[in-house]
Amino acid sequence: MKRVLFGILLGLCLYAASASAADVTERPYELIVQRDSDTLKCSHLALHDTQHFRGLPESGYLKSKVLETGEERTQFIAETEEDVWERAESLCGPRETWDFHTLIRSTATPYDASQAVLRPQQSTSPQLEVFPLITSGDSSNRVDLVFFADGYTAEEKDKFLDDAFRLAEDISGNQTFYTVKPLLNFWAAFVPSKESGVGVGGEPKDTVFGLYRPGTELRGVYYSKPEVAREACDALGTQCDYPILMGNDPLYGGLGGEFTVITPSLANGPLVLRHELGHSVIDVGEEYDGGFAYFGVNAAHNTTTSGIPWTHWLSPAPDAHAHVHDDAEHHHGHVYGAAEAVKPKDDIRVERAVMPLQDYAWTLLNTSAPWSTRFNSSGQYAWHLVRFSLSGLPNATDLVVSLDGKDLHWAPRADVGVDRWHYDVKLNSTLSGGEHEVTFELKNQKREGEAQLCSVEVLEFGDENEFVTTPGHYSLYPTFSEKNETTYRPTNEDCLMRIVTTPNFCKACVEGLWHALLRRVSLVDSLTPSCSQSTLEPERVLDLSLVPLAHLRDAPVGVEEGYAITWVRDGVEVPAFANQTRLVDDANTVGSYVARVKYWTEEVKVDPEGLLETIVGVVVTTRCF
Ligand SMILES: *[C@@H]1O[C@H](CO)[C@@H](O)[C@H](O)[C@H]1NC(C)=O
Ligand SMILES: *[C@@H]1O[C@H](CO)[C@@H](O)[C@H](O)[C@H]1NC(C)=O
Ligand SMILES: *[C@@H]1O[C@H](CO)[C@@H](O)[C@H](O)[C@H]1NC(C)=O
Ligand SMILES: *[C@@H]1O[C@H](CO)[C@@H](O)[C@H](O)[C@H]1NC(C)=O
Ligand SMILES: *[C@@H]1O[C@H](CO)[C@@H](O)[C@H](O)[C@H]1NC(C)=O
Ligand SMILES: *[C@@H]1O[C@H](CO)[C@@H](O)[C@H](O)[C@H]1NC(C)=O
Ligand SMILES: *[C@@H]1O[C@H](CO)[C@@H](O)[C@H](O)[C@H]1NC(C)=O
Ligand SMILES: *[C@@H]1O[C@H](CO)[C@@H](O)[C@H](O)[C@H]1NC(C)=O
Repeated sequence: MKRVLFGILLGLCLYAASASAADVTERPYELIVQRDSDTLKCSHLALHDTQHFRGLPESGYLKSKVLETGEERTQFIAETEEDVWERAESLCGPRETWDFHTLIRSTATPYDASQAVLRPQQSTSPQLEVFPLITSGDSSNRVDLVFFADGYTAEEKDKFLDDAFRLAEDISGNQTFYTVKPLLNFWAAFVPSKESGVGVGGEPKDTVFGLYRPGTELRGVYYSKPEVAREACDALGTQCDYPILMGNDPLYGGLGGEFTVITPSLANGPLVLRHELGHSVIDVGEEYDGGFAYFGVNAAHNTTTSGIPWTHWLSPAPDAHAHVHDDAEHHHGHVYGAAEAVKPKDDIRVERAVMPLQDYAWTLLNTSAPWSTRFNSSGQYAWHLVRFSLSGLPNATDLVVSLDGKDLHWAPRADVGVDRWHYDVKLNSTLSGGEHEVTFELKNQKREGEAQLCSVEVLEFGDENEFVTTPGHYSLYPTFSEKNETTYRPTNEDCLMRIVTTPNFCKACVEGLWHALLRRVSLVDSLTPSCSQSTLEPERVLDLSLVPLAHLRDAPVGVEEGYAITWVRDGVEVPAFANQTRLVDDANTVGSYVARVKYWTEEVKVDPEGLLETIVGVVVTTRCF
């Protein structure tokens, strides 16, 4: 069985010289098209060769989504250039008619490295200076994240490098992306801006990408020069997989989508960055309430086994008998809430919760009148939570937050200053049936114009038998969209896609992260034959260079993981060199060598596409003398 398998693979992937990950698979071609989702008129098209894409279907890989700008973005990856050209013309019409921004690198118009300049700025176009922040290998076999400077002047270059390094370190040093760090490179790309900072009131400053806030309040940060950003990333070729535009402003702000936009805010920079990267790298939607997009490995739209991507992570439910007993005891005339409107089909339990209030207010507070809102409770839940986010409120005496006139004793996060932050007030009591009121009363007039209520939400929960709050418990937790539609997430609050202040993903997302990265990264950097003269007699040596995971990491990360390596010579396994990255053979041997590399980690339980395995081979045709 094994010999047959290797025999087939030999034909596919053997090269006479050294085999590196980049040439084990031919580089496929990628097409990116952005067009108006109503008129279907194209506004941007990029076509180029790209990093290998494992498991690429013969018909190509196609993904289309609507961006926050309302534009439709289509990505198409295929093996041949003809296929992507064909798709490009089917999306945007015949090539001669294209009158929009294009970035084309194809054999017809070969890529010229001297293009690594931001052209739209014409004669004064500054050179893009690229600095490594945290790197693990050649960009052709890594996923590369690049911070681009906006609103940093020439004098602020060091500040930019410090900010970028701090953020890269925060999200990969000991949390968030730390276990997959050997698959990533972080770079900082600097071009000086003429002015410092990001624009406000919808007016960009004179900066490289023209970042700005629509108003003055802390919310979204938008870009006004997408073509410049696209060219900057394109100029880096395979070194720019995920562009991050960083606006030089100390306070909260950001945006996801085509570019991740962030600020280096001490409190919020890492939060926004890792959350937006979760969307773009793992390709998952939200887990917090009040969003509109729920999809990917962390979202279920129904409660049947086929609809739940994380069945293999589910925890045993608490004792069913206790559940029934508790219901009878605590909820006289039990009324089912939203979560129970859909009864689990094949006995997959849904945690019991409801969201009676949800308001993304984004409103400036004043001292003339408090901001308040009302909601109704069914009176059927064991406890409740008031969840809100604020900015421009540095002092506990600035604001009183109350529920039904009762002060919730809000106090700002230490050292947050005027930056935005998220607060949870958990109240371990049943809300009575009927109407309730939440009030935000600004006390300090000096804060007017800055003090902002960003969002407020009230959630109600069943008791511990109905709604398990324990971290690490995997189940079906209801999430409520902006339209109060229910989807399900894997954990209560383990994931930064729900709780942005938490630094880690849940296991379902981490597994999805491995799959997403290993689709673009091969476990083998290279397999190189050589002749060794280090001993008296010459020897044939084959060196396998692997992505530095498992025992090859710089520092252990505290998860169970390992590499298993099998060597095969001329179709026959060579057990003596099992698990070794170097095979030594007789100097006179010629023939084929294949290494089969399997990586395993407790963070990945299922691997339907075999992404945690790479097979490489070489044919040695000359002897060592
Ligand atoms: C990572 O390190 C930072 C800074 O030393 C620390 O605040 C944080 O708690 C650490 N996180 C984990 C998960 O260990
Ligand atoms: C549940 O969702 C899955 C995945 O979205 C879908 O394939 C399946 O048909 C759905 N089942 C029902 C009963 O709606
Ligand atoms: C959402 O729907 C549930 C169930 O119908 C209801 O109890 C709750 O009040 C609704 N929440 C909002 C914010 O409309
Ligand atoms: C003060 O805030 C309240 C509540 O948000 C609002 O209704 C009112 O219009 C505001 N007053 C002024 C003068 O902005
Ligand atoms: C609460 O329910 C009562 C009775 O159905 C209704 O009159 C009232 O408008 C509701 N309040 C809110 C804030 O929805
Ligand atoms: C907060 O307000 C109190 C009372 O006005 C004042 O004594 C204190 O200095 C303020 N603290 C800050 C950090 O502004
Ligand atoms: C609420 O209090 C009860 C009884 O003290 C306790 O068992 C339960 O864990 C608490 N629930 C929460 C969510 O804090
Ligand atoms: C190679 O390592 C794997 C663990 O990664 C282990 O299961 C296997 O037994 C090892 N093989 C040999 C021959 O030592």
